[in-house]
Amino acid sequence: MRSSIKHAARNGTALVLLLGGAIALLAQSDITGYWILRYKDAGVTYLQLEQKGDTVQSVASGRGGGRGGVSGTLHNGKLEMKSTANRPPAAPGAAAPPARETVYEGVSAGPNRFDMTVTTTGRPPAKATLERVSAAEAHPARLPLPQLQDVPDNGLARTPPMGWNSWNKFHDRFDDKTVREMADALVSSGMAKAGYQYLVVDEGWTSGRDANGKIIGNARFPDMKKLAEYVHSKGLKIGIYSSPGPQACSGDLGGGYQGSFGHEEEDAQTFADWGYDYLKYDWCSAGGVYSSTREDEQGAYQKMGEALLKTGRPMVYSLCQYGAADVWKWGAKTGGNLWRTTFDIGDRWESMERIGFAQIDIAGFTQPGHWNDPDMLEVGNGGMTAHEYRTHMSLWSMLSAPLMAGNDVRTMTEETKSILMNPDVIAIDQDRDPKPVQRLSQNGKTEVIIRPLSGNAFAVGLFNRGDRPAAVSFRWDALKFNTGLCGFRRLQAQDLWKHQPVETTGDEFTATVPVHGVVLLRVAAAGGRGGF
Ligand code: GLA
Repeated sequence: MRSSIKHAARNGTALVLLLGGAIALLAQSDITGYWILRYKDAGVTYLQLEQKGDTVQSVASGRGGGRGGVSGTLHNGKLEMKSTANRPPAAPGAAAPPARETVYEGVSAGPNRFDMTVTTTGRPPAKATLERVSAAEAHPARLPLPQLQDVPDNGLARTPPMGWNSWNKFHDRFDDKTVREMADALVSSGMAKAGYQYLVVDEGWTSGRDANGKIIGNARFPDMKKLAEYVHSKGLKIGIYSSPGPQACSGDLGGGYQGSFGHEEEDAQTFADWGYDYLKYDWCSAGGVYSSTREDEQGAYQKMGEALLKTGRPMVYSLCQYGAADVWKWGAKTGGNLWRTTFDIGDRWESMERIGFAQIDIAGFTQPGHWNDPDMLEVGNGGMTAHEYRTHMSLWSMLSAPLMAGNDVRTMTEETKSILMNPDVIAIDQDRDPKPVQRLSQNGKTEVIIRPLSGNAFAVGLFNRGDRPAAVSFRWDALKFNTGLCGFRRLQAQDLWKHQPVETTGDEFTATVPVHGVVLLRVAAAGGRGGF
């Protein structure tokens, strides 16, 4: 009797297990629909999947411009999918790097859930869960945007903001400790003294929201308020990062991190309560909710601009929507102190050159409190020569661009320090009376760019974009004529990279400029007025 009960019980258990498994398989037998891939301690990705037999394929997802192109199979509760992303060549005409492949492997973990491992070429495998969500979650309806109006100026950033940002060097592979070390290094290296004041924590710090909807840090950033206190204790200011969309763009650890969509006022208040001094607000998945018209973009940025102002805490407002809809014409109206004018910079000459020299035409839109932002500095990250980095620093300074270092300031070479902390070059960037930069002349791959400075002075950059050293010249009278210094008889000039005076006698100045290099001069009126 006893044994038959045992037997029946064992059979029962087996039956239950069998049934359970069958139900799980049954539940997983058609995964057509919307899914959220939640990475452990990173972001999320929404997928819209379609299943036919054992074959699974994604259709364009609702968010972030659609991370489509995922396909694979579902067999006996095992999900195996792949996506391939082509990468652009480093330079026009160069061979494209191998496509980046992502492999998604999952095992069924109950109805509507898989435990996943996601492996992308060149990145560590990431753990994630895949869970079914409603169409409404995957495609959030747009929220009303405010009627367009001018947000009052917050009075900040009278000169271009200077600081350090985590993204160029670390992407989202960083933590509280790294940021604290960066704060220490900004001070000990002399960067803080040189003017680099804002330490900005870019994408990667949040894990989402708590039960009350409040945005929270992830395991790598357990206490954002304490972090701000630490950075302040070093005499620095601190910045944070969010998006007008539901998610930010995504980093190396997977998915897009939490954005401020539908929580704008609440998040602005949280950032203020934590003591933050700067917000970088990145369009990212807002593209899946709003349209990319000027009206929607301006409305979405105005919404946060108003929310920041309402907190009463001075916070620099940095717009990042890659220069869409001619943001330089309306960024200031949203309360923006700076706005990105381009897609992301890369640590390559071609990228920096393309971005930097394209800014001259829109230089007139920059003014105290409101700056064109051609993206953060790559100086010291290793992908360019010292000449190229000097061109980067010279050009950004002549453009009155924000100077946000993007390298590891804990381990800078003397050369990197000499570029990032050249006080004369920084002084051009930070000139109190910024006048737009102009092209004086262009000759094949060389060009001379000038920018009037306060105090009867001007900066002159002789740039060589070509692949051979080149002699570059300008006439002193052309320079005087174009800078309103015609009346001054004598000029004084200093080479700001060689730290030497240069002769201003004769009709013209000529220098041999190295490949991709620059000769940067500060020229000032020295003698009395009296014609040429
Ligand atoms: C965009 C921005 C970058 C950086 C990343 C973070 O690409 O342009 O500067 O903030 O997002 O994902």
